[in-house]
Amino acid sequence: MTSFSDSLTTASGLAEKVAVITGGSRGIGFAAAKELGTLGATVILVGKSPENLQFAVSALIDIGLDVDSICVDVSDNEQVLEKINQHSLAPQADILINSAGVMSEKMAKTLRTSTQEWHRVMGTNLDGTFNLISAIGPQMAGRKSGRIINVSACLGRFSGPGLAGGLAPYRISKTAVNALTKNLAAELGNGSRGVLVDAMCPNHTRTDMGGPDAPRSPEEAADTIVWLATREHNSKTQTGLLWEDRNIVPW
Ligand SMILES: NC(=O)c1ccc[n+]([C@@H]2O[C@H](COP(=O)([O-])OP(=O)(O)OC[C@H]3O[C@@H](n4cnc5c(N)ncnc54)[C@H](OP(=O)(O)O)[C@@H]3O)[C@@H](O)[C@H]2O)c1
Repeated sequence: MTSFSDSLTTASGLAEKVAVITGGSRGIGFAAAKELGTLGATVILVGKSPENLQFAVSALIDIGLDVDSICVDVSDNEQVLEKINQHSLAPQADILINSAGVMSEKMAKTLRTSTQEWHRVMGTNLDGTFNLISAIGPQMAGRKSGRIINVSACLGRFSGPGLAGGLAPYRISKTAVNALTKNLAAELGNGSRGVLVDAMCPNHTRTDMGGPDAPRSPEEAADTIVWLATREHNSKTQTGLLWEDRNIVPW
């Protein structure tokens, strides 16, 4: 089996590795990109707003990281495929982090959710995750090497604080992201064919989405993402799971 971890255990860290991070222009995705870049990866930030992307790219270049960006609406399947394939490194990325996400309108109970709002949230959170996986996952499967980390949310779980009503498109999009994760991981042999696929809950975090009073910093939220992207891969590695603070939690 081709082991992704072979080169990770060298002194060069993530040198030569390429990470594509959707939502990399802000918040948790930006924090994950910064840490992976600091570990030596080439990071490719994916976002919708060119201004936010430019700001994020400049900030990472200023601290000496190897960074590029792709400006695309992740919900647009054709555009995602085109822009990823046009990039010299992105199609062969070693790490894919799907962090791009939008929150539902306030409350958004199911019976009060418009079709437009439903598609807005599903389009970014669920379709966006599928679109990036479609663009990059086949190459990972072909190489028998790669990491896919889908940023989910506790609100999408069937257990714990999960599906308790309200924020319907958001919660259900994240439940679907969990299902996509588990299903894809099974299709790829749950790690036995070199590709690890996992979902994670960052918890309530101080970002534009989480607000200024959230208890966690983006760096704390990104810790599990970076750990999943860089952890050892051997015959005992557990994958196809939902993680929180580096621990497995029920779906
Ligand atoms: N913050 C929390 O408390 C919390 C809790 C649980 C789960 N999460 C999840 O964590 C992930 C990151 O959240 P965050 O708090 O970092 O959010 P954030 O600060 O609002 O940042 C959202 C990111 O997603 C990008 N994005 C949104 N829609 C997009 C689209 N259609 N196409 C391309 N990029 C798009 C944004 O890019 P632009 O700059 O171009 O808009 C931005 O980079 C999300 O999936 C969220 O659901 C967050």
